[in-house]
Amino acid sequence: MVKVESNRNKLIQILSENKDNFISGQEISRILEISRNSVWKHMKALEKDGYVVEGVPRKGYRILKQPDKVSENTIKWGLETSWLGHTIIHKESGPSTQFLIHQAAQEGAKHGAVAILDEQTMGRGRMNRQWHSADKKGMWLSMLLRPMILPQQAPQLTLLTATVLADVLKKCTQVEPMIKWPNDILLKKKKIAGILTEMQAEQDRIQYIVIGVGLNINHSNDDLPESFTYQATSLYHETGKTWSTQMIIQQFLNEFEVSFDKYVKDGFTEVKQKWESYGFKLGEKIKITTPKGDTEAVFHGIAEDGALLIINSLGEKEKLYSGEIQWFE
Ligand code: BTN
Repeated sequence: MVKVESNRNKLIQILSENKDNFISGQEISRILEISRNSVWKHMKALEKDGYVVEGVPRKGYRILKQPDKVSENTIKWGLETSWLGHTIIHKESGPSTQFLIHQAAQEGAKHGAVAILDEQTMGRGRMNRQWHSADKKGMWLSMLLRPMILPQQAPQLTLLTATVLADVLKKCTQVEPMIKWPNDILLKKKKIAGILTEMQAEQDRIQYIVIGVGLNINHSNDDLPESFTYQATSLYHETGKTWSTQMIIQQFLNEFEVSFDKYVKDGFTEVKQKWESYGFKLGEKIKITTPKGDTEAVFHGIAEDGALLIINSLGEKEKLYSGEIQWFE
């Protein structure tokens, strides 16, 4: 069974690498070391799975269309990345994609491994909150990064992730997202996505970072827990349309790789500008609850190290690293 599965995966990989061309049955049987008859049987099995395969005598096979569901193969097919998503761990259900990636990292997985679950039974958010992750309703995904940056720069990656997600939502679904510091994506002031960054590091060296992204896609009102409906939303709820999770995941991974590589090459400045262009309540009055107490301030922007920049009640610029912001309406 395992051998059949792995041949199927390899076959899809070969076909996706030759997407615009036919590849002959003979060539496939040579690469996979299986008979021509087995190749044909695999093609029939792919069709059963929802792939549309074109087979032309003396030319070979090519895939014309793949099913609109999330799996390792369907995500890899059409992915335009060079390192992000080379390993994709996909399962229908599991506790949390964060957990899957931490486990993979400890077993030596490479920079760029991605975990996706259709349903998370123990999805988690920042500050140990629960993250509601209903089956096939959203994008529940974590990425493993092994970046050559200092541990104190890690928050920049959370901000970068937020800008990528905002860009993808804007480009693919024509909504107008905003980012609430540090990492909530809002649509019409309601939360549609959150980002959880976890790091394994020594004092001056990052071993690895796990960035988890949760995006509510096809939840109807009934799918959002009652306590959420006044503060959370989904793409379906905002646009009245259902969206392909597969397409959104692929676009997100494609865009993330481009932005990450640019950040490594050119630094944080462009990310900061982009973040501020989406910044919720930028230039406006905010109330901040910190461990030291509540203060009022004007939200000035974000600092190079990812901190929140405010103008305090004395008119001075100040950096804040933690705390929850409450917004004056
Ligand atoms: C937050 O806003 O508090 C962050 C939410 C992050 C949720 C995502 S879903 C994929 C990954 N797996 C998890 O358990 N959490 C993150």
